[in-house]
Amino acid sequence: MTRTLTAVLLALTTIASAQTNLSEISSTAPPSGATPVLQIDAGKVTGKVSPMLYGLMTEEINFSYEGGLYGELIRNRTFKSSVQSPTFWSAVGDTTLAIDTNQPLNSALNLSLKLDTSKATKESPVGIANGGYWGIPVRPNTTYRASFYARAQNFSGPVTVSIQSTNGNEVLASATVSRVSGGWKKYDVTLKTGNIKESKNNRFVLTTTKSGSLFHTNGTLWLQNVSLFPPTFNNRPNGTRPDIMQLMGDMQPKFLRFPGGNYVEGNRMSERFNWKETVGDVSQRPGHRSPWGYWSTDGLGLLEFLEWCEDLHMEPVLAVFAGYTLDRKYVEPGPALQPYVQEALEEIEYVTGDAKTTKWGAQRAKDGHPAPFPLTYVEVGNEDSFDRSGSYDKRFAQFFDAIIAKYPQLKVISTVGYEHSDSLVKSRFPDLVDEHYYRNQEEMMAHALDYDKYSRTNRTKIFVGEWATRVGSPTPNMAGALGDSAWMTGMERNSDIVLISCYAPMFVNVSQTTGQNRSMQWATDLIGYDALSSYGSPAYYAQKMFSTMHGDDILATDSQNIPTRVWTPRAGRGGNAPPSQQIREVFFDATRDSKSGLIYLKVVNASNAAQKINVQINGAAGVDSTGEAVVLAAKSLDDTNTLQEPQKIVPHTEKADGLGANFTREFPAYSLTVLKIKTK
Ligand code: AHR
Repeated sequence: MTRTLTAVLLALTTIASAQTNLSEISSTAPPSGATPVLQIDAGKVTGKVSPMLYGLMTEEINFSYEGGLYGELIRNRTFKSSVQSPTFWSAVGDTTLAIDTNQPLNSALNLSLKLDTSKATKESPVGIANGGYWGIPVRPNTTYRASFYARAQNFSGPVTVSIQSTNGNEVLASATVSRVSGGWKKYDVTLKTGNIKESKNNRFVLTTTKSGSLFHTNGTLWLQNVSLFPPTFNNRPNGTRPDIMQLMGDMQPKFLRFPGGNYVEGNRMSERFNWKETVGDVSQRPGHRSPWGYWSTDGLGLLEFLEWCEDLHMEPVLAVFAGYTLDRKYVEPGPALQPYVQEALEEIEYVTGDAKTTKWGAQRAKDGHPAPFPLTYVEVGNEDSFDRSGSYDKRFAQFFDAIIAKYPQLKVISTVGYEHSDSLVKSRFPDLVDEHYYRNQEEMMAHALDYDKYSRTNRTKIFVGEWATRVGSPTPNMAGALGDSAWMTGMERNSDIVLISCYAPMFVNVSQTTGQNRSMQWATDLIGYDALSSYGSPAYYAQKMFSTMHGDDILATDSQNIPTRVWTPRAGRGGNAPPSQQIREVFFDATRDSKSGLIYLKVVNASNAAQKINVQINGAAGVDSTGEAVVLAAKSLDDTNTLQEPQKIVPHTEKADGLGANFTREFPAYSLTVLKIKTK
C-alpha cells in the first residue's frame, strides 16, 4: 500500500482484540495481605524497546530560553517588549530614556532606545541599567562578553559597561569603549570578574561621563541589542547555559521536540514561529511575542535549537507551523495553505539540505553550520484537535503529501492522538499520532496500563509528545514522580508501539512563581532554576532512571496479588463524579539487554508502606544471586527538591543480594527501583 492511500477508520481503531500486549493486564484482584508476585518470562520477547523512546520537549514558556537556557543575561535587549516604554530598563543619573521608532537599527530591530547624555559629568555619569531575568548572575574569575549597537548625535565619547551589585555600591567587572560616535555601529567588550563571591543580585549598567561632543553639550545616544553573555556550553557564541545543558545531557535524551507546543502556533498569525525570522545574525531577528505572554527575541532560533540537539547528541523532532493559530483561526487547505507548506519544506531543507546544492542548506552553512542535521520525524502543527472546524484532516494531508513527495524517508506525525478519536486524521495514514496527557497522580496510575490494550496491528504508531503528572509546583514532588514512573512503565512495556515520548513542560524559572510579570506560566515543570543555579525535580530523577537504564528487548510479564486502593476520580466537565474504583499501587516492567543478558526490572511502589514482592524469572538459563539496585525513595508524597535543597530526593545505588530465579525483596514506600539482574 502506498503511504498516501486513503486510510480506513478501522485501521485507526485503538483497542483491538488481536495481538495486544496483554500480559500485564491479566492480573486478578489480590487476596488481602497476600505477597504480590511479579513474573518475568525471559524466554518471551514481546517487542523491541524503541531506540528513540526517551526525548525532551521544549517551547518558550516559563522563561525557558530567555531567562533560562539561552545564555543572554539582559532582559529586553532589543527594547521591543513594549513599544510604550523601555520595560526592564531604568535610567542611571540625570537623564531620560524613551523608545524611538524613528531611529531603527534595521527593519528587524525597527526601534531603539534614546538616551539623553546632556547632563553627564565625570562625577555623575548617565546611562541605563538592566536587572536581567531576576538578577544578573556573576561568578569569580569569569569572562563576560558585552556588546551593543549605538548611534550618536552631538556626542563623541567613552561608554562604560559594568556589572554592579543591585544597589550600585560594588562594581564587579567593567570595561570601557573609548569612543562611541557617528552612525550605527556594533561595539564589543569583555568584562572579567576577580576573586568575588558568586551572586545574582546584580545589574548591568551602561553609562557615559560625557555630555556631548567637542562643539555640543546636548548629546544623544541611540542603543539597540544591548547584550551580555557569560561562558556558554561548548563555548558556543550565542550559546546556552552549561548547568541546564548538563542536567539534560545526564538524561541521555534521544530527541528534542521543538518549537512547541503552543509556541509553534502563536496567539495569532503574526506570532507563529516563523522560522525564517529566527535565523541569521541576531540583530536581523525581529523577535515575537510568545503565546505565554512575554517577548522573545528569537535569539534562540532554529539553528540554536539544532545546535542544542547536536551538543546533546539528540535528533530534532521538528514541529512545523500548520496553518492553525491559538485564536482558533485556520488557513483554508488548498492554494491559501500552500505558502506554509512551502515554508515547511524549506525549513526541512534548512535542517537537512546539502550545503553546496540546496538553497536553504547553503543558508545554514552561511549561518555557521555547513553539516546537515539528522532528521527522522516531522510533526505537522500542535494539538489540532482544538481546531473544531475540522480542517486539520485536509491541512495534514496537504503537508503530508508534500513532505513525503520530497522526503520519502521522513516519518510524519499528526497532532491528533487516539485520545481524540472524534478528530483523528482519516484521509492519510500518519506515521505516528501525538497524544498529550496532563493528569494527577491517581489518574496517571489508573491509566498506566492503557497502552497494553492498544492494537499491535495499526500502522500508525504513538508519540506521547506531552505528558506529566501535575502534582507539585513549580516542580513536581514525589507524588508527581510516582505517577510519572507508573506511566513510564506502561510506555516502556509498550514501546513496540510507543516509539517516542517526552515530558512537558521541561523548564521553569522559579524566581517569581506568582504575581504580575511572574516567571512561571505553567505549574509542574521538570527542571527549575533561577539566574544562578538549577535543579532536577524528583520526577527528573525518575525519568533519568528510565531513560538511562533499560534494555532493548521487552520481556513478557505477568503479576498476581497486586495491592490496590480505592480511588474516586475527579468530576468530569458535566460535574458528575465517575464511580470509585480500585487502582493499583505497584507497577513494573522488564526489559533486557540482548547482548549482555542484563534484565532491568523497574518496580514502582506508590503505597505508603514498604512492600515485600516475590519476583519469579522463567526462561533464563541462569540468574545471578547478586546485582544492583538503583532506588529513588521519599518519606512523604510532598517531599521535593528545590533551589535550596536540590539533592533532597535523588537516586542511590546499592548492591542487591539474594537474587535468583525466584526471590523476594522489599521495595520501600513511595519508591521507584531499577533492579539490574544478571542472566544467562
Ligand atoms: O506544555 C504546555 C502546553 O500544553 C503546550 O504548549 C500545549 O501543546 C499543551 O496544551
